[in-house]
Amino acid sequence: MLLPGDGIGQEIVIEARLVLEHVAKLFGHVFAFPDGLIGGCAIDATGSALPEDTLKACLDSDAVLLGAVGGPKWSDPKAPVRPEQGLLALRKAMGVYANLRPVSVCSALIDASPLRPDRVRDVDIMIVRELTGGLYFGQPQGQETIDGGRAAVDTMRYKESEIRRVLHLAFELAEGRRKKVTSVDKANVLASSRLWREIAVEVAAEFPTVSCEHILVDACAMYLIQRPADFDVIVTENMFGDILSDEASMISGSLGMLPSASLGNPGQPGLYEPIHGSAPDIAGKGIANPLATILSAAMLLRLRLGLVAEATCIESAVERVLAEGARTADIARPGELAISTADMGKRVREALEASYPGRPTAQQ
Ligand code: IPM
Ligand code: MG
Repeated sequence: MLLPGDGIGQEIVIEARLVLEHVAKLFGHVFAFPDGLIGGCAIDATGSALPEDTLKACLDSDAVLLGAVGGPKWSDPKAPVRPEQGLLALRKAMGVYANLRPVSVCSALIDASPLRPDRVRDVDIMIVRELTGGLYFGQPQGQETIDGGRAAVDTMRYKESEIRRVLHLAFELAEGRRKKVTSVDKANVLASSRLWREIAVEVAAEFPTVSCEHILVDACAMYLIQRPADFDVIVTENMFGDILSDEASMISGSLGMLPSASLGNPGQPGLYEPIHGSAPDIAGKGIANPLATILSAAMLLRLRLGLVAEATCIESAVERVLAEGARTADIARPGELAISTADMGKRVREALEASYPGRPTAQQ
């Protein structure tokens, strides 16, 4: 199910689709790509940020590939309905409680990072962000009047079960990686964080081969810049994960490079989306970087459809075009020629041919 959404969403999802179609042709698959409205364009067309038919089609699909939602047209704080509500409702309805945001730096882009090359070279982090709880969903939420003045409330509430399942998934991922989990909280101030840490200690005990450290979110923000290569799996609650993952994207050079996969219970369709937003400032100009969405499509193939060779083929193609010097504006250095969204997509499709490992035989 394709949900391009708003702003650059339209431009980047089409490139991911073309890449998926090319992969399908190479490997002999057939993919169907129904699409639907979400976010601001859905509000304009139906009054709702997540129309019922979109939600139903998503729940009936094998996987959802989303672009981005939001834009100035719908961002009036007094607006009764906002595009972001559609995305949050979709995440909640799909039950995708764990958002995986891998952060690494492609060797060709080491100079694109604002951090020194020696700091970013060996970075390989998996941020696991809790996605369906915490401040994003806690009630009460809203404006009220206190002592005759305006006030507003948000609620940070976590149930034990919500914390435990995402920690479990993080430890399982770490088992297949460098066996290190960093659990991030604000246990010195927040009750929800103290519960988080208690449960993290319990879950860690179930994974004796994985080491676990607990750090405060403010310190984590600092260490991500100071020594990013030390991290393996970082697991944290929804809002902390939102903030830390944007920060971490600078390690890879650009927000336009980072894909994500949001997973729920096994067998459920996952939600795959770039971590960046709808970038209204550059929407419609054809200059957005489609690689985060293309790499999200690769995660979809690997994690949801079990198409590992196909996913690797896409990732190798992306690496190849970057090594050849293809750059959209966000990753081009001063003086470097920036190519368009469509040209970047085309370069990746051409590189797929070169990365294609050969059609597997029927027995495989
Ligand atoms: C993200 C985005 C969203 C979020 C917005 C668009 C609601 O920032 O996916 O990181 O905060 O989750
Ligand atoms: Mg964000």
